[in-house]
Amino acid sequence: MIGVFDSGLGGLTVLRALTARFPELSFVYLGDHAHVPYGNRPSEEIIELTRASVETLFRRGCKLVVLGCNTATAVAARRLQTTWLPETPWKAEGYNIVGIVAPTVEAATQTPWAVTTPQYPQKFLTDRIAVFGTTRTIASNVYAEEIRKRCPKVTVIQQVCSELAGAIERGVAEPELERLVKEGIDGAMAQANGEPLHRAILGCTHFPLVEHLFRRHLPPATRILSQPEIVADSLEDYLSRHPRFKGEIRPQPSLVLLTTGNPEEASAGARVFAGEGLRFQHLDT
Ligand code: DGL
Repeated sequence: MIGVFDSGLGGLTVLRALTARFPELSFVYLGDHAHVPYGNRPSEEIIELTRASVETLFRRGCKLVVLGCNTATAVAARRLQTTWLPETPWKAEGYNIVGIVAPTVEAATQTPWAVTTPQYPQKFLTDRIAVFGTTRTIASNVYAEEIRKRCPKVTVIQQVCSELAGAIERGVAEPELERLVKEGIDGAMAQANGEPLHRAILGCTHFPLVEHLFRRHLPPATRILSQPEIVADSLEDYLSRHPRFKGEIRPQPSLVLLTTGNPEEASAGARVFAGEGLRFQHLDT
């Protein structure tokens, strides 16, 4: 079984891509609706909330947890992978955590994560890439640093969309979501000083839920990198190298959706984006 974690509904965009790509695998999704949004919280709090959720998914039998959340990945992934996990009994039993920043940087730079110096021809890439994210993801600077390491001539424009994930989560009406998306894009365009934006990373897993609004307001030539697809590609590669994480392959794979919040509200929120049929249950039931 594979665990997918997000602060709330956003990780469903990743889950949807993963269940489509791996229909034979079982998944457990955990949304920390009791604490969403994470994006404006202090880093230490995000680390602790992410750790608790990873541990919950481990206890539910997920040997691999995908952090389907940029904020949790940007702030907590490295700490949990290098400091927390090795000190736990989970490590010896082969449990692991993967984040979603690395595959996104790989896709944006066309460079494997393990390669941290510029290679030909990426060395000469001069694209302008806009990264839209939560306050905490952008403050971590992780996208800018990791992209520039591999493609030093790329201009990375970082744009905070501090209210957007929370608004999506609360199910606010489309005109208000559109206003927030447009505000973010205007901010990025102002930073670009009239120069073209070649690519856009929607660096928050909530944002693909309003990708049509980004598409509407970004210049037509700006290519949006689809993070859920990128994560599915990356997981396919990872599982081919580590097939033990696929878990038991059953004729009827299971999909369990857990929430730390109110299951009815989480299910209703999911319905807005994913249609009928996604039913959350409370973590403790
Ligand atoms: N969906 C998350 C992300 O990718 C977090 C949004 C939030 O909780 O603020 O950053």
